[in-house]
Amino acid sequence: MSRESEDVLRSLPTESRFYPSYRYSSQVAAAHSSPDSFWSSQARKLEWFRNWDKVLEWEEPYARWFVGGTINASFNALDRHIHTSRRNKVAYIWEGENGEVRSLTFQDLFREVNKFANLLVAQGIVRGDRIAIYMPMVPEFIIAILAATRIGATFSVIFSGFSAMALAGRLNDSKTKLVVTADVGHRRGKVLKLKEIVDEAVTSAPSVERIVVYRREGKDVDMKEGRDIWWQDSIKDVKTYLAPEHLDSTHPLFILYTSGTTGKPKGAVHGTGGYLTYAYATQKWVFDGREDDVYWCTADIGWITGHTYVIFGPLLHGLTSVIFEGTPDYPTPEKWWEIIERHKVSIFYTTPTAIRSLMRHGNDLPNKHDLGSLRLLGTVGEPINPAAWEWYYDIIGGTRCPIVDTFWQTETGGILISPSPNLGLVPLKPGSATLPLPGIEADIVDENGSSVPLGVRGFLVIKRPWPGMFANLYEDPERYKEVYWTKFPGSYYTGDYAVRDKDGYFWLLGRADEVLKVSGHRLGTIEIEDALMGHSSIAEAAVSSRPDPIKGEGIIIFAVLKRGLSPSQDLKDGLKQQVRKVLGPIATPDEIHFVSALPKTRSGKIMRRVVKAVASGASIGDVTTLEDEASVEELKKAVEEFSKTVSG
Ligand code: WT7
Repeated sequence: MSRESEDVLRSLPTESRFYPSYRYSSQVAAAHSSPDSFWSSQARKLEWFRNWDKVLEWEEPYARWFVGGTINASFNALDRHIHTSRRNKVAYIWEGENGEVRSLTFQDLFREVNKFANLLVAQGIVRGDRIAIYMPMVPEFIIAILAATRIGATFSVIFSGFSAMALAGRLNDSKTKLVVTADVGHRRGKVLKLKEIVDEAVTSAPSVERIVVYRREGKDVDMKEGRDIWWQDSIKDVKTYLAPEHLDSTHPLFILYTSGTTGKPKGAVHGTGGYLTYAYATQKWVFDGREDDVYWCTADIGWITGHTYVIFGPLLHGLTSVIFEGTPDYPTPEKWWEIIERHKVSIFYTTPTAIRSLMRHGNDLPNKHDLGSLRLLGTVGEPINPAAWEWYYDIIGGTRCPIVDTFWQTETGGILISPSPNLGLVPLKPGSATLPLPGIEADIVDENGSSVPLGVRGFLVIKRPWPGMFANLYEDPERYKEVYWTKFPGSYYTGDYAVRDKDGYFWLLGRADEVLKVSGHRLGTIEIEDALMGHSSIAEAAVSSRPDPIKGEGIIIFAVLKRGLSPSQDLKDGLKQQVRKVLGPIATPDEIHFVSALPKTRSGKIMRRVVKAVASGASIGDVTTLEDEASVEELKKAVEEFSKTVSG
């Protein structure tokens, strides 16, 4: 960090008008005035087999990046480094939940990826096939992904906290041919029987022909003859090299499912050349990694953060990364500080939820450890409250480390709004993601699509395509157009509220649609309602959230029971189980209230605004369009009674 930016940090928080660095401003100007040559110069930092003929083909709302170019993700992540002195540099330091440590050099990773790619080929996987990955956080997770990219198979990662039903839905939607999993995974000391969950899922996913099982623990699992193979057994005799496929820049690199405002998850499809270019550029701008850095992004690979900033961003730059199998507070709430001290982590990127949950344990635990190796901190996934920001800055960063609050989404492929130490740090303000990165034309608009003045809340939109942008929703172009490109024609709609302050800084204010952020995980209220409707006792349900001091939001359910049934603890437990069965443990409800009716408009639509206000204890506002005002009172009473129970 430069002397100048250190001085700037000391004067936090700033009241005066600031001027972004020359480097930042000139890059923003270049990207604005000649985007094609700007993005070309970024893309040229990667290795292409064939150069593109055209930087961008934009037929709204479809962007095709680096058209005519051919490239391979695993080649850029690995082959490039193994012919240099980085060959023996550590790519990943892995720690298991039980304390086991493994290190893989770029050379090791290269060999294992080539072998697994050969294994996939031997199993009949060819360019364009979809393969799904349902794995615990072990290095083989990354090996499987890179192997898929080597042969041009489109990979689809399903987070291991999703249930068999949720997994089956995703396997079916993408017509997946092969699944990579493990016998078991670990979460908070509990064993997750991943293979068993996959077995259950594939009973209703007929496209799956093969299951490759990584033996994590040698647990007894059923192996179906002709369908299931062990990773370790099948890899023994394969060759250690496979030439990478030359893939079109627009070739679908991966599909990643995420929640939206209907029951069905959306399969965001990302292309190859544009995505990699954006991963490379933003990894540098935001995290500014140097050869000797030890970088730790704590995200699970099941999420987009894991894709872009655990795998592709750091590997493209040849960085050394830490990966950890466990959660922040298991086995102890000082595990993360131990890891930072042990491996001398210098760049650390995590979520506000994790920060808040660790903050709850006080300063003694982090203070016991030498965190002096840290030089840069980051957050992602949800707004960070100033108190958590200050704690992170003071106690973890020792008031030395800038915090990059990075705003982005599954759909955006990489970070859109964030401070950028590499381009010149602007004064930070706790809770603001600051300014858009070069090439990102962000605006905040009202219902009619007109820009709102500074200080006024509106909808965050992006006014031109950028290379990290997703290409489509898998086999659902209608939904792609409708969800993202119809509300504000010509602009990408993020679904987020935001406001800009007098310095032009962006403050993200949460989702503007029916999407929740629970511990940073994205869940649709309607998806949870659909899950509940599968329970035989439910007539109707409305799902909402209330602020949660740790998780950001907690899930609240208002349920109307079928005639003749009365509320009971058993029913509450049954409903929780139901949600876990359909969606998985990440969607477990925090509160369930039984009510006799839901507030609705005259046309029969649930008044979500009212449900939300009641759930979070805010004022209800105008209810004149309600059909039956009594039900609002009832909702209110249910919440009041609940709070009496918990406080009394
Ligand atoms: C939603 C996207 C991006 C990787 C992880 C989440 C919220 C994300 C921030 C931030 C405030 C944030 C938004 C966004 N969000 N980062 N720095 N400040 N809110 O990806 O699951 O696709 O969720 O997360 O609401 O729309 P995702």
